[in-house]
Amino acid sequence: MQITILGGGGFLGRKLAQRLAAEGTLGGAPITGLTLFDLAAPPAPEGARFPVRCLGGDVADPAQVAAAIPAGTAVVVHLAAVVSAQAEADFDLGLRVNVHGTLAVLQACRALPRPPRVVFTSSVASFAGGQGALLADDARQLPTNSYGAEKAIGELLLQDASRRGFLDAVNLRLPTVIIRPGRPNRAASSFVSAILREPLLGLPAELPVPEDFAVWICSPRRAVAWFLHAMTMDTAPLGLDRGINPPGRSVAVGEMLAALEGVAGPAARALVRPVPDPAVEAIVGGWPASFTAERARRPLGFSEQEGMEAIIEAFIADDLAATRAERGL
Ligand SMILES: NC(=O)c1ccc[n+]([C@@H]2O[C@H](COP(=O)([O-])OP(=O)(O)OC[C@H]3O[C@@H](n4cnc5c(N)ncnc54)[C@H](O)[C@@H]3O)[C@@H](O)[C@H]2O)c1
Repeated sequence: MQITILGGGGFLGRKLAQRLAAEGTLGGAPITGLTLFDLAAPPAPEGARFPVRCLGGDVADPAQVAAAIPAGTAVVVHLAAVVSAQAEADFDLGLRVNVHGTLAVLQACRALPRPPRVVFTSSVASFAGGQGALLADDARQLPTNSYGAEKAIGELLLQDASRRGFLDAVNLRLPTVIIRPGRPNRAASSFVSAILREPLLGLPAELPVPEDFAVWICSPRRAVAWFLHAMTMDTAPLGLDRGINPPGRSVAVGEMLAALEGVAGPAARALVRPVPDPAVEAIVGGWPASFTAERARRPLGFSEQEGMEAIIEAFIADDLAATRAERGL
């Protein structure tokens, strides 16, 4: 089985590539090749027993995307994107990468002799509703930011391409994935990881929202498990509706900080200082904090999100040492 990960040098792309290298198989079939594509050629995962091609390029360039999705590709995981605050700050860049990039992916898949599975990462940011909302599976996407609108457009394009038989899409509307390793990024939700990661590194962090502010979250381990499921699941039960709200968790910031204290002690929690930021709250505050996620659970079999302490312990096990090294700490 040949697999391509677009955005394969990013946070989740690297984790997925590493997991595929460790497994060597997907859905019981041996992996015969992996292509990783990102702005700069991503590093190959360690220990892969199959050939890995690492390509640098622009996902909005149709020829470069076509080269990353050769004939014989069975699964494309499309993670390449400009994230929320950056897409809000630079409309043209967001449109080019998030919309024209997804169109280029559609066209490259359409040109293949056999329609590939396409796993596309949409976002909770494609919905409105804010803090009080509990969204059912048929909730309408009403984005309050350009990134969310671009993700919703991508979903519709891939859904229609699935109906036409050009490809076979699973559009996962990911929660905010925490704890992101490395440095803060340009997602408006970057603070949700920072208030846990920075204290675990012994560094201060700013909390831009009140402690009762809730966020719909999942862990990187869970996101990768959902990707693996989406890459191989039977899509017949999806019918026309290719959008899936996977079963994340709604967690208040205060609960996150209590879990931080439980795992790393009161000194870690004391490093988090409230510094209200109306600009961040304006973007993230529009995203719903809860979903029923019934369809993903029961008929579709997406696994449940573990609790906050387990998320923090997993970050310590998987990413803390590498983050320290990357940041020279
Ligand atoms: N991490 C989250 O909390 C979260 C939540 C919801 C949805 N998502 C979506 O999941 C996907 C993966 O998220 P992530 O956290 O790994 O993001 P990331 O920013 O770490 O990775 C995205 C990758 O896309 C690449 N990219 C950007 N522009 C490109 C271009 N023009 N051509 C080729 N590559 C380009 C970036 O270099 C980056 O490596 C993204 O589509 C994101 O929108 C993430």
